[in-house]
Amino acid sequence: MAILRCPACGAEEQASSARYECACGELLEVEHSFRLVGREVFDARGLHSPAPLDSGVWRFRELVYPRFPSEAVVSLREGNTPLYSSESVASFVGIEQVKLKHEGLNPSGSFKDRGMTVAVSRAKASGARRLLCASTGNTAASLAAYAAAAGIPCAILAPAGKTSAAKLAQATAYGAQTILLRGDFDHAMALSRELARAGEVELVNSLNPFRLEGQKSIVFEFLAQLGWRAPDWIAFPAGNLGNCSAFGKALREARYLGLIDRTPRLLAVQAAGAAPFARGFEQGWTQRVSVEPQTRASAIRIGAPVSWGRAERAIRETRGHVLAVSDAELDLAKRAIDRAGIGCELASAAGVAGARELVRRGLIGPEESVVAVLTANLLKEPPTESDEARAIEPELDALQRALAQ
Ligand code: F0G
Repeated sequence: MAILRCPACGAEEQASSARYECACGELLEVEHSFRLVGREVFDARGLHSPAPLDSGVWRFRELVYPRFPSEAVVSLREGNTPLYSSESVASFVGIEQVKLKHEGLNPSGSFKDRGMTVAVSRAKASGARRLLCASTGNTAASLAAYAAAAGIPCAILAPAGKTSAAKLAQATAYGAQTILLRGDFDHAMALSRELARAGEVELVNSLNPFRLEGQKSIVFEFLAQLGWRAPDWIAFPAGNLGNCSAFGKALREARYLGLIDRTPRLLAVQAAGAAPFARGFEQGWTQRVSVEPQTRASAIRIGAPVSWGRAERAIRETRGHVLAVSDAELDLAKRAIDRAGIGCELASAAGVAGARELVRRGLIGPEESVVAVLTANLLKEPPTESDEARAIEPELDALQRALAQ
């Protein structure tokens, strides 16, 4: 059975509770009583397995949500994403061993689907009548898809003017009530928490610990793809710090269960204009920082991340590193990833940009290996300018002239 436990004061809450904050102020975590289970159990499962084990999340059900009934799972066959090698991206980073875990190839186009299948399954099983999230766009699209699949109404709250139209279009198409807020993600998050405390809705942001249980499977899946040989580093974008927390928990549990024999170091990468966690790291974790966020990487435009405590623990335990990179550096990294035919949204390029910077500083050595997590799809942020101006006449010579340019 799973329980919810406060990592700070040890208080316990029933797993069926929709309360995710401890009275002491920390966020509750899911604690499983694990059955010892070996790599071969997971290696034997795949796309050929009966549902829900054909999902890249539920394939690891013993680590994600043991004993949750199969028939209650709401899955869109998330996960099973590729782990790419690219010589050109490796040469951009400056070391040989770089792999790209492409979470943009999930059903709604981002890693959020991995957490959402678990949070929505649990919410449905416990009778939730309405779901809500605050979002910079990807969580919104993901929640909208899974709520639709579950048949539960949902609403999403996103910053007006700063959320990609493609992400909002997804949420609307899946049938979510889409509410735009004059303010930042952090305002949307604070309001959503208030509403959830009043018991009016069930919140499925990553402060919901079941989201993190699903997101752990990113790590389990690439470890399985690597034959359970852990890389030296895992590099990824960091905003609200859900992934950082989930990856730390995944590695702790994988070590505990003997699935891996050494722990990779986490490299959490923020955009320089929205880098409170990087500042906290530089200051030796003396305080929890918040900032007015400013970056073109809208997915990680977050100034007051909610999962700070558990993410800090993840960085400490893995002897990890937190770094800020400029928007210009994100552009360069995205270009390298796009031009390799792989592609991702701007924020998703942060892991590659951060790894390149640590290689430059000599903190990642030439013989070390990096898995960079690409968190969302290239199509998440289509350019906004009209293509009318550069259209040609429908004539052969016009086409030949265009090709010759
Ligand atoms: N990458 C992408 C593409 C994201 O959409 C997000 C977060 C992150 C990275 C950061 O992940 O919050 O776990 O540190 N997007 C949230 C959203 C905030 O609402 O879609 P994190």
